[in-house]
Amino acid sequence: MMFLFLILVTHVSEAYNTCPKCGSIDVPYPLSTDDNCGDPRYKVYCNNGILEFLSARGFYYKILSINQSAYKLIISPPPIQKGTCYSSDFSSEGLKLDENLPFNTSTHNTVMLINCTEPLYYWALNSSSTSFCRQFENNVEEGIIGCKNTLCCHYLKDSPFTSHMIRIRAIGCTAYPSMVNMKPGSSFDSWTNGIELQWVPPN
Ligand SMILES: *[C@@H]1O[C@H](CO)[C@@H](O)[C@H](O)[C@H]1NC(C)=O
Ligand SMILES: *[C@@H]1O[C@H](CO)[C@@H](O)[C@H](O)[C@H]1NC(C)=O
Ligand SMILES: *[C@@H]1O[C@H](CO)[C@@H](O)[C@H](O)[C@H]1NC(C)=O
Ligand SMILES: *[C@@H]1O[C@H](CO)[C@@H](O)[C@H](O)[C@H]1NC(C)=O
Repeated sequence: MMFLFLILVTHVSEAYNTCPKCGSIDVPYPLSTDDNCGDPRYKVYCNNGILEFLSARGFYYKILSINQSAYKLIISPPPIQKGTCYSSDFSSEGLKLDENLPFNTSTHNTVMLINCTEPLYYWALNSSSTSFCRQFENNVEEGIIGCKNTLCCHYLKDSPFTSHMIRIRAIGCTAYPSMVNMKPGSSFDSWTNGIELQWVPPN
């Protein structure tokens, strides 16, 4: 009985070779924190017990959750620096994924563009669609008070043409909070902060 059990365990670990937990978060296959586990093409980083995703421009984004069966993970949008209205990856114009890696952004992200310059986003201000922005500003902690009453709009990031980036600087905005699976009319408390990425499953 024990013998059989060992064979099964050995078989499973050879077939998948799942990486160990990082802090309190499971690292399901094919995600790989180390060359000896997972599939190295699906590289993520375990830095001091925090699981992180590395962008093509060298920024680390904290991984908030992973859904292995849906091939999806949610990363934290870059923090907005206290007292300012800048996303911390502003210098690299926002999020850029390496197109040679098997990750892209899913079609479920609602991105808010904040502190945008006129006149590019002038049109967006008047539409009722700005309400997400104002709800956001009114609910987030004091830290990003610098974002209050700036030009802001939001959009559902569902275009296949931009599935490897969320640009801010190039379009005249300085911060970009993002929410996953946003429903119109939903209350702030039900919002899921994050940027959802998906991966192409290994063959
Ligand atoms: C993961 O994704 C599957 C398929 O989309 C879904 O049915 C399931 O509820 C998700 N699991 C979690 C924990 O969200
Ligand atoms: C908003 O953006 C402008 C540049 O467009 C910048 O000068 C300003 O500092 C930003 N506001 C805050 C509060 O960071
Ligand atoms: C938006 O509002 C401003 C002032 O409130 C107005 O001047 C402008 O024409 C409006 N833009 C659109 C596209 O309606
Ligand atoms: C992202 O990759 C998935 C495969 O995992 C693919 O089905 C999807 O079309 C891609 N999305 C975009 C927007 O290119």
